[in-house]
Amino acid sequence: MQAAAQRTWTPGQRRHIGDLAWGLRYLGRAALWTAADGEVAAWAIAGDSLYAPAGLAGEVIGWLGEPEITVLETEEHLTAALEEAGYVRRDGGPFFLHCAVELDGLPELTVPEGYEIRAVRPDEAGQRAAAHRAAWRPARIGALMVPPADLGAGESSMTTEACQSVMDTWPYRADLDQVAVAPDGSFAAFALGWLDEVNKAGELEPVGTVPGHTRRGLASAVSLASLHAMRAAGATRAVVYPRGDEAYPVARKVYFGLGFEPVARTVTYVRAT
Ligand SMILES: CC(C)(COP(=O)(O)OP(=O)(O)OC[C@H]1O[C@@H](n2cnc3c(N)ncnc32)[C@H](O)[C@@H]1OP(=O)(O)O)[C@@H](O)C(=O)NCCC(=O)NCCS
Repeated sequence: MQAAAQRTWTPGQRRHIGDLAWGLRYLGRAALWTAADGEVAAWAIAGDSLYAPAGLAGEVIGWLGEPEITVLETEEHLTAALEEAGYVRRDGGPFFLHCAVELDGLPELTVPEGYEIRAVRPDEAGQRAAAHRAAWRPARIGALMVPPADLGAGESSMTTEACQSVMDTWPYRADLDQVAVAPDGSFAAFALGWLDEVNKAGELEPVGTVPGHTRRGLASAVSLASLHAMRAAGATRAVVYPRGDEAYPVARKVYFGLGFEPVARTVTYVRAT
């Protein structure tokens, strides 16, 4: 699946190889379509995404059979196939902005006072997972929404084992997994970067700051540290996908502040019949 996504990647394609590495632990019902030579020609991940050339799009959509399917607006062969299959574009609701930045003119990294910015070490999956859970706690995400929403008292599913498995998944590289270390030694913010060496394209997924450390420039600093590391590793540009709708505005502000600009958005199609 990663090879297929890598073969055709542009900033206007829904999935980068990093998405597939990060999303592996959420993988539920999924299917592959292979060509005669065994190469993956198309795939579908229920509740997430599909990848298909025009000739297979209808079949992949039929296999998914979900009431709602999300694609990128720029994937016109997929939007056409969805309409052909009886889906209609939903107006309103959440969507993601695909944003890109050229890595040539990156600002210099300024480290917020009192913090250290560095790459994650191989034995730090536990601490890394704890920071992720704190940043992505549903109640906290709900509090950042406009208007605030009650997302319940649950926890993110990120455990030490899950974090270790991300760290063991190609193409994870510790130099792109940057953290801000607080004076007490805990991780206050993180930005996980992924590199597609063939396309010289980086991706940030995910980024977060632990409550209590926000609005100090930490998400910006760790993201920038990862972008600099991507550039040093050969990337010429990078992508990130913050929410684009008014209900969740904070994330995109961080990335716009670093020079990212929107190149596409997701669109959700709903089965009409
Ligand atoms: C979004 C998030 C990463 C921001 O972390 P942070 O360390 O506070 O971000 P920064 O201090 O670097 O903020 C950079 C800019 O983003 C904007 N911003 C960040 N948090 C904001 C908030 N709560 N309200 C309004 N603007 C905000 C501001 O423009 C800010 O610059 P300023 O403080 O100079 O005004 C953090 O709130 C978080 O972890 N949220 C939950 C997970 C998440 O949404 N991750 C990003 C998904 S793509």
